[in-house]
Amino acid sequence: MSHSTTALEPRTINTPDLQLRPLTEADEPAVAEALLDAGILRWAAGRSVTEAATGDRARIWLAPRLSCWDSGAAVFAIAGPGHGTLLGSLGIREVNRLPDQAVVTYWVTPAARGRGLAARALDTAARWAFTPVADGGLGLHRITLDHAVRNVGSCRVATRAGFLLEGTMRDFYVDTDGIRHDSHLHARLASDGPAA
Ligand SMILES: CC(C)(COP(=O)(O)OP(=O)(O)OC[C@H]1O[C@@H](n2cnc3c(N)ncnc32)[C@H](O)[C@@H]1OP(=O)(O)O)[C@@H](O)C(=O)NCCC(=O)NCCS
Repeated sequence: MSHSTTALEPRTINTPDLQLRPLTEADEPAVAEALLDAGILRWAAGRSVTEAATGDRARIWLAPRLSCWDSGAAVFAIAGPGHGTLLGSLGIREVNRLPDQAVVTYWVTPAARGRGLAARALDTAARWAFTPVADGGLGLHRITLDHAVRNVGSCRVATRAGFLLEGTMRDFYVDTDGIRHDSHLHARLASDGPAA
């Protein structure tokens, strides 16, 4: 799932209002419930998951993400402050496939939505990824994300977390029904400074 050959050290990042931590096998029930959500399946689960039987989806989703740090991808569970219950997931992938760059993806469980959690998690993850390697970060300069134009909530998340809209990629995303969607490309640079 990553093009980087450099293993990453698994991280837990705590802020006053959320925690980003590595996924564990104990997250499987919460992932299974999340993967019942049509929005997560349509926009964020990936074809290997959506094409599998419902009962197999959590295991198929989770397995590569448990070992992803070894192959240079940082996929976190998003949890509440100081406790580990999974409320969502955020992945920084393709780390250094292009030098100093990566791609980020995210989802939040239906029960945890409506509180700006994804934008706060995204800002937290970006600030860590921009931190120099010597100081425990990934030393990245540019992080991109894409979302189907019609996924307006994801556009708000990106903008709120300081990922500026750079353009529209025509027919970029193929959803679970095989329908092609135009997608927005957003990016945040280390030199952009803090999100508003
Ligand atoms: C996108 C997602 C992560 C946002 O979850 P969240 O952090 O709880 O987001 P919130 O409900 O707090 O909403 C964030 C913003 O989007 C807006 N928003 C949310 N859903 C919206 C919708 N359907 N239409 C318009 N605006 C919407 C909110 O009003 C809010 O705007 P604000 O920042 O101006 O206040 C979540 O809906 C999700 O997991 N969706 C399915 C998977 C997905 O789409 N992942 C992204 C793939 S690119």
